[in-house]
This record gives sequence, C-alpha cells and structure tokens, in this order.
Amino acid sequence: MRHLLDTHDLPRAEALDILDVAEDMADTQQREIKKLPTLRGKTVVNLFFEDSTRTRISFEAAAKRLSADVINFSAKGSSVSKGESLQDTAQTLQAMGADAVVIRHGASGAPRTLATSGWITAGVVNAGDGTHEHPTQALLDAFTIRKRRFGADSRGRDLDGVKVTIVGDILHSRVARSNVWLLHTLGADVTLVAPPTLIPHDVTAWPARVLFDLDAAIADEPDALMMLRIQLERMNAAYFPTEREYSRRWGLDARRLATLRPDSMVMHPGPMNRGLEISAEAADSSRSTVLDQVTNGVSVRMAVLYLLLAGERDPQHHAREDAR
Ligand code: CP
Repeated sequence: MRHLLDTHDLPRAEALDILDVAEDMADTQQREIKKLPTLRGKTVVNLFFEDSTRTRISFEAAAKRLSADVINFSAKGSSVSKGESLQDTAQTLQAMGADAVVIRHGASGAPRTLATSGWITAGVVNAGDGTHEHPTQALLDAFTIRKRRFGADSRGRDLDGVKVTIVGDILHSRVARSNVWLLHTLGADVTLVAPPTLIPHDVTAWPARVLFDLDAAIADEPDALMMLRIQLERMNAAYFPTEREYSRRWGLDARRLATLRPDSMVMHPGPMNRGLEISAEAADSSRSTVLDQVTNGVSVRMAVLYLLLAGERDPQHHAREDAR
C-alpha cells in the first residue's frame, strides 16, 4: 500500500488485508506485547490542521507500538498562523525525515493533493479531510462489527448481509461517507437515517437506502446502529431543527434503546454530544461499542502503518480467495 486516501477506491482484498493484519496486531496487544520492532528507524508525522483526540492519539500510540519515531504537528501554534502553505509545511517535515504523513485537514482533498503533487515522497494517510472521508474510522468500525459478529473466527470474513444503520448528520459527515463505501465493498446493507435537510444532494449515487424515520429503521432490526455527532460548528439554522426536536425525533434515548433488538450494537465514532444524538443510557449501555471502537482504532492504525511502511504481508491472499 502506497497511501490510504479513501475507502471509495479501496479494493475489497486490500480492505480485508488491513482488517486481518489488525487482528494480528490486536492479538499482540492482548498478549501484552507492548512493542513490536517492525518500524524501528521509520518516522511517522502526525500533521493535524484540525482538532482531534482519538485519531491523533491512536496514530501516535500505533506508531510507537511498532517502534517508529513520531513527530506531532498541530497547526495551532505553528507557522501556519504566519501564512505558511501546506506544501512548505509538508516539505519542512519531510526534510526532517518523515516516512509517513498522517494528515487531518479541513479541506476535502488535501491528503490526495499531498500524495499526488510530488511535493513529498512519504506515504500519506488521510486522518479526516473536510466532509470527504475518514478511512481509518470506517476500517475500525468494520473491524468492530466483524469482531462482534465472528469473534476469534473473524479473519478473512466480510460483512455480507450485515445490516448497518447510520443515523444523524450525514450531510457533514466524512465518517458516514467512508463507512458507506467500505461497508458496501464488504457486502453490508447500509441504511441512512436523518432529517431531510441533513442528507446530501448526491445521496442517490450512494449504495445506501435513505429513511427519515428512526423508529422505522429500528423496527427493521439492524445489526449495528451507528449514531453520528451533530456537527453544530458546521450547522446553519436553515437546515438544522431545534436541538430539542432533533433529540426527540432522531436521538437514541432510553425508550428507543429498549426497542432495539437485544443483540444490536450501538456505535458512535466520538466525540459524542450526550443528550443530543445519544443519551447517556445508550452511550454507556452494555450494547455500546464506543470504547471498543477506540481500542480497535489502535490495532487498525498499526495495521495501516505496517502495510504502508513495512510492505504488504500477502497482497494476493484475498484476491486469490475472491477468484475461487
Ligand atoms: N472519531 C474521531 O475522528 O475522533 P477525533 O476527532 O477525536 O479524532
């Protein structure tokens, strides 16, 4: 793997390879092998132009557990405030020896620009770009669903026929976009639920069913219900109902939680607006995988960095299986 920019163009075989390598990484963590020597001598730069807790820290933990050196760059407090461009910032970090650049940026397409411009030679990983994609979030979500469904027998499995319902601010969500593409590639049936004003105009081109009624979606017994953060910072009063109305009609509260199939998973990528899209009862319930998703994020990001910087384990493995 040279770069990881999106899930839209991620082949099934490569997605499964990442998930299987992540299983191996999770096994090493469970056996309390704190550090693998695999990326000794490599340097990973976390280049974050937007705030992050989970993604930045888990990429840092992943790189360190593989023995790579890590440089953390945050636009706040950097020379970006003096007008330094993305090109100059990236080239400065490459000059310090970056082998991989993990970038989060407010502009959709910034990671692809970095990967294809010729400015740097390092591998590029998209850690969230504008409203476009957040591929490692989708991979850790798929890993979490697969693990819940197949347990120790997860390796090599896809999500054929698994019903995943994604609820909330689809319009602004890079998590929703990456999940729709990846889940579809892996064979899952995806339903989107939101107020009509929070559904993107191009949704008809997405491989997903659209509903406006959360209770109807829950009655359809999804295997996983993924609640999304309402991105209040990107919201315009013209397309957002009141918070009270949103919570009543599209929030996962205790009443709705009780109607959900008992073995359905409750997911959220975080950060959560408790009391708005998800109640404390739902977020903290035994069905919630919120913290599992965070834990799995480290294994998935270890797998991505490993495949990017240490070569592919057996890239033809799943392609051969597909051909059978
Ligand atoms: N899920 C996610 O991307 O969280 P952060 O913004 O905290 O990285």
